[in-house]
Amino acid sequence: MAKYRIAWMPGDGIGVDVMDAARIVLDAIALDAEYIPADIGWKFWCREGNPLPQRTLDVMKGTDCALFGAITSKGKDVADKELAPELRGKGYSYRSPIVAMRQLLDLYICLRPCKAYAGNPLNYRDGIDLVVFRENTEGMYIGVEFERVPEQFYAVKGMEKVPRDAALSLRAITPGGSERIVRAAFEYARQHGRKKVTAVHKGNVLRQTDGVFMAAARKVAAEYPDVAFDDANVDAMCMWLLKNPMNYDVIVTTNLFGDIVSDLCAQMVGGMGFGCSGNIGTSYAVFEPTHGSAPKYAGLYKVNPMATILAARMMLEWLGEKEKAAQIEGAVAAVIAEGKVRTYDLGGDNTTLEVAEAIAARLQ
Ligand code: IPM
Ligand code: MG
Repeated sequence: MAKYRIAWMPGDGIGVDVMDAARIVLDAIALDAEYIPADIGWKFWCREGNPLPQRTLDVMKGTDCALFGAITSKGKDVADKELAPELRGKGYSYRSPIVAMRQLLDLYICLRPCKAYAGNPLNYRDGIDLVVFRENTEGMYIGVEFERVPEQFYAVKGMEKVPRDAALSLRAITPGGSERIVRAAFEYARQHGRKKVTAVHKGNVLRQTDGVFMAAARKVAAEYPDVAFDDANVDAMCMWLLKNPMNYDVIVTTNLFGDIVSDLCAQMVGGMGFGCSGNIGTSYAVFEPTHGSAPKYAGLYKVNPMATILAARMMLEWLGEKEKAAQIEGAVAAVIAEGKVRTYDLGGDNTTLEVAEAIAARLQ
């Protein structure tokens, strides 16, 4: 029996292309693993009314972790139209399967390293090396939304209470959820010799919810006197990140702010072709590139597989295969530095699989 069982979830669009690339690298490094394919994505929503079927969760239960490609998510109006006619009107409602996995498996850490590899022509500045810790289970992602507002939010007109014409999304922040993500960020900082943790919020407006988040952040920070701590409003943070990216090290924030700030950080180190991500809980984790399924490039083997290969590297580190992880990191850095094999986003004309093969060649 193989040492590891890994759920293999290419998903939609270019998810397939980049996962094929990751597999070339994992095979080259001879990871002793069995890869178990699992269904996820848009076509399962259309056919079955569920983009994350129960059988997929069952596969995940029997594995150590998962590597995931990308999924197509569409707004409510389109989702309802693309559902199989026989399923319509039966109460099916689309929910992003990646968000569902994070919540169902309590993968509360979304870890997003953003590193400017030397020689990457897309680097915003050389030397950027940031890590974003995004809370992954609560905040604006709890899925509590109202098409119409409940009675408490009715407007009062004269003697009458009248419905407001509005939809409503709720943001939930708990002390426990905040504490565990901030603690994860500080532990990471300590273990990786990082100097500073910055908590990002919008406490001047979201007084209650970010009050809870920042109280937890300050409490945890006091337990780590060896790591510097500061905080910033999310809008100012975006500005300062662009102005002085070198001033930041580990960023910790709530779910939606982390979604936004991590895209900004990814863009500073080459864009979505380099954005890798780990959704990590206490005993299970799902690794993925942060990019989407880019339907127009699907199957063309044109897109940059670096993000997925770097996600596979994160997976190896999480599994405890530190040496193999370091080898992949070295091979990726060398291929970027050499600059001979590049996908179109980097100005080259190599295919997705050629990039993977160039990395694999350095591992043998
Ligand atoms: C991400 C993505 C997801 C998110 C989408 C696909 C639901 O943008 O992983 O950052 O919003 O979390
Ligand atoms: Mg995102």
